Amino acid sequence: MNKDFFAHKTAVIDEGCSIGNGTKIWHFSHIMPNSTIGNQCNIGQNVVISPEVVLGNNVKIQNNVSVYTGVICDDDVFLGPSCVFTNVTNPRSGVNRRAEYSRTHVGKGATIGANATIVCGHDIGTFAFIGAGAVVTKNIPPYALVVGNPAKQIGWMSEYGHRLEFDQKDIAVCPESNETYILKEQQVYKTHLVK
Ligand SMILES: CC(C)(COP(=O)(O)OP(=O)(O)OC[C@H]1O[C@@H](n2cnc3c(N)ncnc32)[C@H](O)[C@@H]1OP(=O)(O)O)[C@@H](O)C(=O)NCCC(=O)NCCS
Repeated sequence: MNKDFFAHKTAVIDEGCSIGNGTKIWHFSHIMPNSTIGNQCNIGQNVVISPEVVLGNNVKIQNNVSVYTGVICDDDVFLGPSCVFTNVTNPRSGVNRRAEYSRTHVGKGATIGANATIVCGHDIGTFAFIGAGAVVTKNIPPYALVVGNPAKQIGWMSEYGHRLEFDQKDIAVCPESNETYILKEQQVYKTHLVK
């Protein structure tokens, strides 16, 4: 196994894991067999990465998050403290559903706020932003900002995490990066326009 990562002495790393360069794994976290963690990730305290999970590069996971089998996080995903994934829609203690875990795909650059719950089988689009405490029950489009239970879209967020205010021509500018976005048929795209 690559040794160019940091794991606190209380962390447990099982067989068959791949952990990228510069990744940090903090107190009492458990990396389960055959999971793959990219470069420069930060895995906070009391985090579980279940078997076969794949995390991209620069994924930041705050304390008390369990990333279950079936969850895929692309590069630059942020998982807020105590957010909750699920991988079975209709669990029953007496019925073994291990062969039917549902998939949850979290796209590049997406943020999941503190204490949000993601009901399994849904995709979270690139750079989508899930507000604190939201309960996601549907696919979330790229750049969408959703809050509440069930989560509803209240706007759009830039890649830098600012609300996008679209003008009459459906153009918006991120106040931090000055990058320009266009809204077309209820989808947001980053443009190469300079405004
Ligand atoms: C979603 C979020 C980004 C919105 O921030 P914002 O753009 O500054 O929004 P505002 O505070 O202006 O709120 C806009 C409206 O949405 C509501 N709202 C904001 N966040 C909400 C949330 N998480 N759940 C439900 N409603 C929310 C506000 O009450 C307000 O409603 P109103 O228009 O009826 O008054 C922010 O509230 C949030 O949840 N951030 C995540 C923080 C987090 O989890 N960080 C983790 C790392 S520490």
